[in-house]
Amino acid sequence: MKILVTGGAGFIGGNFLQIMTEKYPEDFYVCLDKLTYAGNMETLEEVLKRKNFRFAKGDICDRSLVDDLFRKEKFDVVINFAAESHVDRSIENPSIFLETNVLGVQVLMDACRKYGVRRFHQVSTDEVYGDLPLERKDLLFHEDTPLKASSPYSASKAAADLLVMAYHRTFHLGVTISRCSNNYGPYQFPEKLIPLMIEKARKGEKLPVYGDGRNVRDWLHVYDHCEAIDEIVRRGKEGEIYNVGGHNERSNLEVVKTILKALGKEENQIEFVKDRPGHDRRYAICPDKIESEIGWKPKHSFETGIQETIRWNLENQQWLRHVESGEYRQWIQRYETLEKNS
Ligand code: NAD
Ligand code: TYD
Repeated sequence: MKILVTGGAGFIGGNFLQIMTEKYPEDFYVCLDKLTYAGNMETLEEVLKRKNFRFAKGDICDRSLVDDLFRKEKFDVVINFAAESHVDRSIENPSIFLETNVLGVQVLMDACRKYGVRRFHQVSTDEVYGDLPLERKDLLFHEDTPLKASSPYSASKAAADLLVMAYHRTFHLGVTISRCSNNYGPYQFPEKLIPLMIEKARKGEKLPVYGDGRNVRDWLHVYDHCEAIDEIVRRGKEGEIYNVGGHNERSNLEVVKTILKALGKEENQIEFVKDRPGHDRRYAICPDKIESEIGWKPKHSFETGIQETIRWNLENQQWLRHVESGEYRQWIQRYETLEKNS
């Protein structure tokens, strides 16, 4: 199979490519990535050495570039990880979220139709369901829970999900959607809760917890999410939506305290700050459908996964330093010089 992975220089797409290019040497993977601030070629260092992989720099919204790529490569499968993914940035500037997360998806699906791609998989999020009350532990998100997004980010992802299902119904495009809970693991950009707090705790800085810190997220290790996507693409039914999660609900305060404890730091580093506008209270996924229909189950518990992630962040200071200093962006200049001279 020839598989296009968009957004593969980001956190989840990067982990996906690391795992799958090794697991399936008979398949060929192409990564299309715009290399926004969140795209990091240092994440793909090992993948770039593999014979079954090629990188292409480009924007999923660029219709002629996408058309050219699809015509040349004749993909069997497209997996769309490309997105603007940070809620706080979507509150600052929603426009780019609508462009990439909605219009970009349309461009990709138009190319899938034109060039006969068998499967378009949209990597979505549980945030499309909005939030659940803290005091109703019995309530979970199911695939048919109504969409009720709270932030410009989640609204853009919900809009894309609707468009994906519309392309299936109207044009019979072979689509699947996965809606996963919050991910953690190696190579996550340090603007997101877990890597941000590890870095701040390590440096002895204050840890900014929004509001009262009681907001709950349902955490899943990125390796489990990658396996779920791969299983859905290979075994999932066309036109279906699959929730992905592992019943790992934790309050933000619990997560932050776990990080401080693992690093031998004091809880007085915690600082409660002004709440995020529209802050979702609780996310909780029911993963029964993917477990019973596909046989996927998470392999990583939060207890061990978070400790491994803390260790990864401590042991991979070069990756983090390059993100902080902006050195990871130098790859783009080298790539553009190479392209010009070729
Ligand atoms: P990320 O921000 O780390 O990476 C996004 C990648 O997409 C980057 O490499 C970036 O350069 C690329 N990109 C952005 N705009 C692009 C464009 N216009 N054209 C081409 N490439 C572009 O995001 P992530 O955390 O890896 O998330 C990947 C996907 O998974 C997203 O669709 C997100 O909505 C979804 N998701 C994330 C989580 C999570 O906890 N991180 C949970 C559930 C679902
Ligand atoms: P985040 O990693 O941004 O993911 P999402 O908003 O998509 O769930 O945030 C996870 C939770 O942590 C969310 O409830 C907001 C909270 N948070 C803080 O309290 N402080 C921070 O500095 C950040 C980045 C997040």
